[in-house]
This record gives sequence, C-alpha cells and structure tokens, in this order.
Amino acid sequence: MSFNIRDHIAWVGKIDWELRKFHGEEYSTHRGTTYNSYLVQDEKTVLIDTVWEPFSREFLENLRRRIDLKKIDLIVANHAEIDHSGGLADLLREIPDTPIYCTANGLKSFKGLFHQDWNFKPVKTGEKVSIGSRDLVFIEAPMLHWPDSMFCYLTGDNILFSNDAFGQHYASELMYNDLVDRTELYQECIKYYANILTPFSKLVDRKIKEVVAMNVPVDMICTSHGVIWRDDPLQIVNQYAQWADDYQENQISLLYDSMWQGTRKMAEAIAGGIHAADGDVTIKLFNTARSDKNDVITEVFKSKAILVGSPTINKGILSSIAGILEEIRGLGFKRKKAAAFGAYGWSGESVKMIVQKLEEAGFDIVGEGIREMWNPDEPALERCTRFGRELAGKL
Ligand code: FEO
Repeated sequence: MSFNIRDHIAWVGKIDWELRKFHGEEYSTHRGTTYNSYLVQDEKTVLIDTVWEPFSREFLENLRRRIDLKKIDLIVANHAEIDHSGGLADLLREIPDTPIYCTANGLKSFKGLFHQDWNFKPVKTGEKVSIGSRDLVFIEAPMLHWPDSMFCYLTGDNILFSNDAFGQHYASELMYNDLVDRTELYQECIKYYANILTPFSKLVDRKIKEVVAMNVPVDMICTSHGVIWRDDPLQIVNQYAQWADDYQENQISLLYDSMWQGTRKMAEAIAGGIHAADGDVTIKLFNTARSDKNDVITEVFKSKAILVGSPTINKGILSSIAGILEEIRGLGFKRKKAAAFGAYGWSGESVKMIVQKLEEAGFDIVGEGIREMWNPDEPALERCTRFGRELAGKL
C-alpha cells in the first residue's frame, strides 16, 4: 500500500494491524500502529524515515513499485529507533552511498545500532538542503524522545515531518485525522503522550515555542506513527502545549492490588467517602494486577491525585503495585497529590513503603495514609469512608 499526500509526495510506510505490544512488552498497542515513511519527489528524490525491521523487505518491494531505488538522492533519518530505521540496512545494500541526513546524536545512535559506516550527513537546527523548488529545513528535537530526535520542514508544501512527536499508535487505512474516529484518536494521542513524553514535558514546551517562533505556515504534520494531521494540524500542537503544562483533570484515581479482597474493600470505601464529599470529581479504581499498565498510566496522567493501596506481603508490597510505582517514578509526574492505604495481618509495612515510593516519585503526600488489620469489618470500612471524605477536601 502507498498513497499520495500531494502529487509529488507519497506515504510509503506500513500499517501494522497486528501489533499489540511495542517497546518489547512495555507499551500496549490495542489498536496496532503504523510506521510512516514518506517519499518526496522534486528535482531530487528524498526518502524520509523507513519502517520497523520485520517489514523491511515488504517496504522495499512497495517502494520499488513507486520508484527505481537508485533514483533516491538522499535519506532523512529523523530518529534512529528501529521502528523507523529498521528498513535502512536492506535499502542501503541497494544504494550504499546515499547520504543520510540526521543529527550528530543520530549518527552515534545509528553506529551503535547498526555498526555501519554509512554516508551520514549530520545537521543542526536551521540547516537546510535544497531539493529543487523546495527546501528541507532541519530542526533538532533532542529528547523528544531520544537525544537524536529531529523534525524536518518542507517549504513550499508547508509540511512538518515530526517523527514520533504528535504521533500515536493507531492503525487505520484512513490515515488522516479528519477521517478517523476522533475519540479513538484522542485516546491514543493522550496515551502516547502520558506514557512516552511525560518526562520531557519541559522540552516539549520549549520546542513548541521555538517552532511557533519560526513563524512558518504548517499545512500538514506528517508524524511517523498514526494519522497525518491535515485538518487544523495545529490542534495537536496546542493539545501538546496543554499536556506539557503539568496537565491534570478533576480526577482522582485509586490504584490497588488485593490478595483476599481486604484492600479492594478499602479502596471502594475510600472512593465512596471521596464521592460523598465531592460529587463532581471523577473517581476511577484500578486493580493494577488486572489492568493494562499503560492505560492506568494514562489515567494517572489525567488525575490531580492518586491513592495507592497494597496489602503487606513479606514486609513489602504486591508486585503489580511495585511495578506501577516504578513506572510512575520514571515518568516524573509533576503537581500531583497522593496518599496510601492497605490491609495487613501482622507486620503491616505496606502503607509506609508506598508513601516513601510516592514521595520519591515527586508526589505531594497528603497524610500518613490508612491501614486496616485483617478483613476490614463495618467499623473499619467506616474509617476508610471517613478517610476518603476528609481527604477529598485536601486533594
Ligand atoms: Fe517511534 Fe522513538 O520511535
């Protein structure tokens, strides 16, 4: 499959309908993904990015249906991660001396990943290359989301090729933001931002301001995953600006795991207390052992506060809670509050341990948390409800 975006620009990527896990097993892709590659034909012919390695051969055959590979004058490699560079090795066996425009960090990443001395042309922000009646202008975007990440802008057509930024893991034959289901698209965009870009929000904010200050028209944003933004393309830039500003909604999420239902009952009683005190706040409960962790992280991203609960086991906490807390720590959420809860039988360390981990993750801890012994009875659950009620005013 390939299709024209303009007469002289084609999408030549791969729609991966089957993918359910990305980054190894780290990121769930309920709706598959796409690896977007673009072929721009002016006096010179440019290939922008490739596809993930398992689709490399298919990618080349597809490309060959469009063009004699020897006619490709240059390659732009906006990002070295192998979901975009996986087609390079096969391609460069056919056209070995073709220049590859990338950042200086890209060069290091490519050498580390492929161990090849390809014809790299490192570029910096503002450098451009003429391809005939148009220029390609390069914009480094370090840590969005790798040190090597880069955008490039095509003059004349006013297209920003943004690579991962503004993308989403979303397979669709429709391929344009105005054609796909908007709710699905929004869900995949916010999940992508929450799980991948949260740690780099300050850089996202700075980069958006830098690109806006360039004061160039943007008619399309061609990302490397998911749809092409052609209807009001700046809507996703504005949305990113909001997400980068320590985003939160009026939501409180309770994340817990439970062995014999005690901590689950506590979670529900606490949630009842919060609701009784504040009927407007959205409250969501997740058993982290039974929920998709990336979906839970997306809900944490949307929350103004989280409550985390685990029973005590082996003087510690259950593994699903330990796992999600490590994920949360790494993402570096800002301006969010938190509290802890949990049932226990004898030693009862879990609540203290969760509080410590939430503090380390940068959350503003509200109170010491609540723990209840053995199977919480009616008075214990009433204490939990009261805990929730009192907490609601502080969150
Ligand atoms: Fe889609 Fe960072 O690769």
